[in-house]
Amino acid sequence: MSRHLLVTGGAGFIGSNFVHHVLTHTDDTITVLDKLTYAGDGTSLKGLLEDRVQLVVADVADAATVGPLVAEADAVIHFAAESHNDNSLHDPTPFLQANLVGTFTLLEAARKHGTRFHHISTDEVYGDLPLDDPVRFTETTPYNPSSPYSATKAGSDLLVRAWVRSFGVAATISNCSNNYGPRQHVEKFIPRQITNLIDGIRPRLYGAGQNVRDWIHVDDHSSAVLAILDRGTIGETYLIGADGEKSNQQVVELILTMMGREGTDYDHVADRAGHDLRYAIDATRLRTELGWQPVFRDFETGLGATIDWYRDNESWWRPQKAATEAKYAQAGQ
Ligand code: NAD
Ligand code: DAU
Repeated sequence: MSRHLLVTGGAGFIGSNFVHHVLTHTDDTITVLDKLTYAGDGTSLKGLLEDRVQLVVADVADAATVGPLVAEADAVIHFAAESHNDNSLHDPTPFLQANLVGTFTLLEAARKHGTRFHHISTDEVYGDLPLDDPVRFTETTPYNPSSPYSATKAGSDLLVRAWVRSFGVAATISNCSNNYGPRQHVEKFIPRQITNLIDGIRPRLYGAGQNVRDWIHVDDHSSAVLAILDRGTIGETYLIGADGEKSNQQVVELILTMMGREGTDYDHVADRAGHDLRYAIDATRLRTELGWQPVFRDFETGLGATIDWYRDNESWWRPQKAATEAKYAQAGQ
């Protein structure tokens, strides 16, 4: 049976890929609610079926707009957030507003209208792991966020849990690891290095480059969210990851060689303040309880397709590139 979904942040990286995924794999219709901040791009939804997707440009913290949209939806999938750690170190203010007040506003509407709610969160709420110990995050790892960004995401998760327990809101939460794939803003690590190389600029590694991230293709994130929406237990948290641990240095070397350059052709730049060392997800619950499996098991294949996407879609990322690099230059990065 087809549903009507309210997808917040659906003009951003993961949200727009989720919209494409839902259109391909279900008969659902979608309203995207997105403020179109610097990170949102209406062209990411261009060409999609108008009878199945509509875009409402507004703030998730605007209760008057949010109320009727939540009332008419069968489920809310809440992606909208300020998402970049480096930005949160320069100015945390929009992170508190979007990630905390925005989530609160949507939860209040879901409570009022009895609407199913799925909250998209991050593995960063758990803090970081040591480099020399194979331990991974699970659903019971204590919260210990490091940056203003991850602290606001942790706070938003706790709001969801409180609204489930105190008000009976029918919500689930997922905490996913680092996503890669098409339509990711050029401020983020992988697109920044690919587009630097297209522009003849050497890739930039923060600090020693030994920090580890657990990479998952964005389409696998989407299929996991759909599985939770369809079969998840209300009130539960699911970790999403695809066993993709790589150091930043390994990723940069791979991008360089896949783009025909020497693997050593990169520069070390100033480290991020409070830089988390390692993230790693144990997704056993998602795999065993919900039967989810990632499709992209080979990072190199997914990375190659991502490099091709940025080569083929320069008109999508070019308008953001110069301003993004100017900001990094100011920070010595
Ligand atoms: P993004 O920055 O690419 O997109 C965020 C979207 O939210 C943009 O379209 C933006 O316009 C919109 N938005 C921001 N503030 C808004 C507001 N106040 N009202 C309405 N819309 C607003 O982010 P992303 O990387 O696609 O991340 C999406 C979600 O997934 C976030 O909640 C993030 O915390 C989470 N997440 C991201 C990753 C990752 O690797 N990128 C991993 C795990 C979880
Ligand atoms: O783990 C999930 C998180 O992944 C999400 O919650 C965030 O929204 C998302 O932005 C991402 O956070 P990171 O901080 O891990 O991603 P970022 O792309 O900013 O950086 C990845 C790693 O690469 C990190 O260790 C910092 C490093 N880095 C980043 C940039 C931009 C570099 O070495 N050089 C760079 O130029």
